[in-house]
Amino acid sequence: MLITFEGIDGAGKSTQVARLKRHLQELGHEVLTLREPGGTEVCENIRELLLQSKHDIAPVTELLLFAASRAELVEKVILPALEQGSIVILDRFSDSTTAYQGYGRGLSLELLEKVNGIATFGLRPDITFFLDITPEDAMIRKFSEKSLPLAFDSEELDRMESSGLEFYRRVRDGYLRIHESEPERMVLLDARLSPQILHERISGKVEQWSAAGRNA
Ligand SMILES: Nc1ncnc2c1ncn2[C@@H]1O[C@H](COP(=O)(O)OP(=O)(O)O)[C@@H](O)[C@H]1O
Ligand SMILES: [Mg+2]
Repeated sequence: MLITFEGIDGAGKSTQVARLKRHLQELGHEVLTLREPGGTEVCENIRELLLQSKHDIAPVTELLLFAASRAELVEKVILPALEQGSIVILDRFSDSTTAYQGYGRGLSLELLEKVNGIATFGLRPDITFFLDITPEDAMIRKFSEKSLPLAFDSEELDRMESSGLEFYRRVRDGYLRIHESEPERMVLLDARLSPQILHERISGKVEQWSAAGRNA
């Protein structure tokens, strides 16, 4: 079973990934969690390239670097873990590419579909949790986490984070459109709910999915 978490930075993905992992482990499942980009040494190096704020990267280069990191992770780690019967939980996957490089940076959705297909080897999540929050609320959370004054041009932000509020509005809009086109797979959750309520809704959905026996 492949579960993915999506949403802009600060939405609460990492928080929910950690809770779901613990919950599923307590139920006796083998669980692997990974963050994108990252997860192998090569992927962590690509992550450095992508997130370091001093790099100015062309949109297509950015797309291909994210895709390269994903292809590596899918082939080396995700597919083998799924074959062994593990539940794999990903903090971001191909919907991030569609939302960020497509809706955010303006690359054509046709190009994205092709690249996503190559990078994932056709692998699709069974369930995706989209934690929806406004960019303003997300930024407020991020800054309070780092105990910094709220400033959208702060040097403390990584390259993606410093792309600005307009960029994040387009990304959020992109996620909403993906949800509209695939409401069955992508579960939309209001990220302003408490971590506990979100966790209960998420684990409830996962259990419902497993009970339905849609493992084929
Ligand atoms: N449901 C929530 N309500 C309020 N604050 C939250 C919630 N979930 C997470 N947070 C806080 O918001 C910040 C960002 O959460 P995080 O899980 O790191 O988000 P992401 O991984 O999507 O960037 C953290 O400081 C976290 O403690
Ligand atoms: Mg996170």
